[in-house]
Amino acid sequence: MNQTKGRAELTNIITVLTQKTALVTFFHTIPSAAFSGAAFIAGISAWLIIKKKDLDVSRTTLKLGLITMVISFVFVGISGDLSSRVMTTQQPMKMAAAEALYSTTESAPFSLLTIGSLDGSRSVFQIDLPSVLSFLSTGNFKGVVEGVNDLQTKYEKQYGPGDYKPNIPLAYWSFRLMMGFGFIGVFFALLALWQMRKGGTPHGRWFAPAMISLPFLPLLAISFGWIFTETARQPWAVFGLIKTADGVSQVVSAGAVLFTMIAFTVLYGVLAIIEVGLILRTVQMGPRPEVDTQVEKIGGSDDRPLAMSY
Ligand code: HEM
Repeated sequence: MNQTKGRAELTNIITVLTQKTALVTFFHTIPSAAFSGAAFIAGISAWLIIKKKDLDVSRTTLKLGLITMVISFVFVGISGDLSSRVMTTQQPMKMAAAEALYSTTESAPFSLLTIGSLDGSRSVFQIDLPSVLSFLSTGNFKGVVEGVNDLQTKYEKQYGPGDYKPNIPLAYWSFRLMMGFGFIGVFFALLALWQMRKGGTPHGRWFAPAMISLPFLPLLAISFGWIFTETARQPWAVFGLIKTADGVSQVVSAGAVLFTMIAFTVLYGVLAIIEVGLILRTVQMGPRPEVDTQVEKIGGSDDRPLAMSY
């Protein structure tokens, strides 16, 4: 941090790339991407099966997608657990907010449902899994997890007066929705794989709605993961060093930011419409029939004699 210029300056890119948060997050987002891609393949294959199109190919690709989903989810879970521990050490307020844990607690429970008071300073109703939060955050069922109110007092002493709490309901729900959509996706994948054992085809009233929703579940999980990461670190841009409010540009106006946001939203909106249209068309066409690759390369039919062309 350059105190004279009041800004953070990069001194070593290797330190940035190899710091713990970057490493665990990389290890979390790459399997998340594989999970999403696999759910996409599985969802489309299941759709072709429902429409009774190209059953042999679709069965194989469905199985491939579902197995990849299960394997990648194991890595998402392991890396998520590691992320939670790193996050608790580096940004304890983020974990406290994610769990709506208001007071520092030993053997802290993992909340399945918490309803907080309107001023956001305490919980009024809670359903918990005993000691699970301590294990998730510290690797020890008896570990101590700091609470929102105690951290607020500590940070006021350390960094001066201010509100150091992020939006607790948003942190709490986005953390759960990230995990929840992932678990629902892998549950559907396991159910379909179970029905596919011994050569069976997945069936039942659950199959069509579950498989059509499959590609969207990881997308929702990813979006909530990102919303959690970015909102629950507030008020900090860099924890303990730069507040988001201090990072506001002196040169770029709010109007310019708004214009850029609108321009990007329109641009990405148009690209999304084109992309979704192309995907739907490709899905409707189904898998390409097998062609003789040699014939395809020269762009002719096999009854035409080969001829040198230039
Ligand atoms: C299975 C249980 C899971 C756990 C324990 C978990 C844990 C975490 C944690 C602790 C973070 C915050 C890291 C930080 O802010 O420092 C995070 C972020 C994130 N998670 Fe998960 N997660 C889980 C499932 C998933 C699933 C299923 C997906 C998507 C398929 C996902 C995608 C993400 C993404 C995209 C981020 C944001 C990364 C970033 O922007 O830096 N997570 N996760």
